[in-house]
Amino acid sequence: MEVITAIKNRRATKSFDPHHKMSEETRRVLLEISALAPSAYNIQHWRIVDVQDPAERAAIRAVAWGQAQVTDASALYVLCADLNAWQEEPQRYWVTSPQPVQDFLLPKLDEYYRGKQEVARDEAMRSLGIFGMALMLVAQDLGYDSCPMDGFDFNAVAQIIHLPADFAIGYMVAIGKGTDNAWPRNREPVEKLVYIDHF
Ligand SMILES: Cc1cc2nc3c(=O)[nH]c(=O)nc-3n(C[C@H](O)[C@H](O)[C@H](O)COP(=O)(O)O)c2cc1C
Repeated sequence: MEVITAIKNRRATKSFDPHHKMSEETRRVLLEISALAPSAYNIQHWRIVDVQDPAERAAIRAVAWGQAQVTDASALYVLCADLNAWQEEPQRYWVTSPQPVQDFLLPKLDEYYRGKQEVARDEAMRSLGIFGMALMLVAQDLGYDSCPMDGFDFNAVAQIIHLPADFAIGYMVAIGKGTDNAWPRNREPVEKLVYIDHF
């Protein structure tokens, strides 16, 4: 599927076929291709919890306004970020780059993040945003529908998935076979959103 078609066809799907099972191969392709998304310094902050246990799905749904996508989607991914990924053997993120690039980037990366928790979190969230969009477009290409979700109690979900310290939840993405017709699309005109040169 062409990217433009995938973007046009993707909608935030509210109901999924609860009986549809996604194959292991599809799950692997979804995540492997999505992980080709760009990330700052190639840190790949994303850590994905693939919630498969029906009881755990039900527990998450209970703290997610009862939204049916949580239990009915074929896959439910909680997109988390490792906020310390920048200092976990960072040289591994650049092993395939020329040595002068590695020599330049490693100290730069340290300077960029050390002692700057807000920067580390912002960067991680940017990476999760891009990863999640890739995930939804790959899903579209594979014949699936999706829904990004942050309508849930973050602390409660953190407990349910045993979120480690120094990790943060970005949002969830539910993927499955949609069973509803999306509401008509609603977007602001581009002219209202774009400024030339400055605000
Ligand atoms: C970060 C984020 C969180 C969202 N959370 C929810 C959610 O909890 N439940 C839901 O049904 N849709 C959720 N949405 C979907 C938006 O409501 C939807 O993308 C928007 O209304 C535009 O519709 P469209 O995606 O079909 O074009 C979320 C979207 C984003 C980006």
